[in-house]
Amino acid sequence: MTEDHALHLRHRPRRLRRSAAIRALVCEARLTAADLIWPIFLRDGENLAEPVPSMPGVNRLSIDRAVDAAREAAGLGIPAMCLFPYTDPKLKTDACEEAWNPDNLSNQAIRAIKAAVPDIAVMTDVALDPYNANGHDGIVRGGIVVNDESVAALVRMALAQAEAGADILGPSDMMDGRIGQMRDALEATGHTDVAIMSYAAKYASAYYGPFRDAVGASGALKGDKKTYQMDPGNGAEALAMIARDLDEGADMVMVKPGLPYLDICRRVHETFQVPTFAYQVSGEYAMIEAAAANGWIDGEKIMIESLTSFKRAGCAGILTYFAPRAARLLAETG
Ligand code: PBG
Repeated sequence: MTEDHALHLRHRPRRLRRSAAIRALVCEARLTAADLIWPIFLRDGENLAEPVPSMPGVNRLSIDRAVDAAREAAGLGIPAMCLFPYTDPKLKTDACEEAWNPDNLSNQAIRAIKAAVPDIAVMTDVALDPYNANGHDGIVRGGIVVNDESVAALVRMALAQAEAGADILGPSDMMDGRIGQMRDALEATGHTDVAIMSYAAKYASAYYGPFRDAVGASGALKGDKKTYQMDPGNGAEALAMIARDLDEGADMVMVKPGLPYLDICRRVHETFQVPTFAYQVSGEYAMIEAAAANGWIDGEKIMIESLTSFKRAGCAGILTYFAPRAARLLAETG
């Protein structure tokens, strides 16, 4: 640089970017393994890890392998896992009775994981879609997803999960009034310490496609979920849903999907002083994996960058299929 070009700037923000040490010192939001919740898919059988084609790197695990995964998660410092069952189509009915069977796949897995790895928090999914002959999250009568009867079924399902030892219930159904009913039922049955992470702002999203393959609901689903999940154009409504679910007794709230709804994460975090989580859903995962597999992006870097963005937006944590890979990478790179 010649004298002619010297600017004598007082502010040179680049001073704080000039070395890795100084960048580390001033970094605002950093991802750690403790921010991650690992969603896994369950299937019946033994010693099985069956790949989900639309989610490369993700498998449906038999319970013994899910217990191995829980050990792996604990070893990596991941505090929680979330269980999603792939249910045998023969067990799917219109009344969804399998949802509250104390010995269904999910409840068996809760017990097995809590027995083997008691320190890991086990979160569940409370919705009827894995057990429903028509793929919906609630009970269908005459082509309509009926609210109150669905809530009664969901409460039974939630209690069975609490009974099995779940630490966190994750109602993802978007029926009206379910949080209050579940909270009352938990209190009445002595499950006073079971937490609820409400899928409070859950959008009717095409990003759930690969998940529906993973749990075997794609073929079953008739129509769409727009009469209960939210319109992607709505933001104020998300805040109203969060306020309602907190009022009804939710301990934590979730925004879902994640990256396309980062503005909602931010608004929820700023408006309510409660732990706010984002779900980086199956379609988000699949898009990153597909582009990475083509060599179009650096998958590992995008994984960390996308997860870090949730922390920057104010999220307490993230549900992500990348959880073990991200935790491993963070452990390696420090
Ligand atoms: C079902 C449920 C869905 C997801 C979590 N719970 C799918 C849906 O609402 O259709 C999606 C998760 C993902 O896409 O990764 N109630």
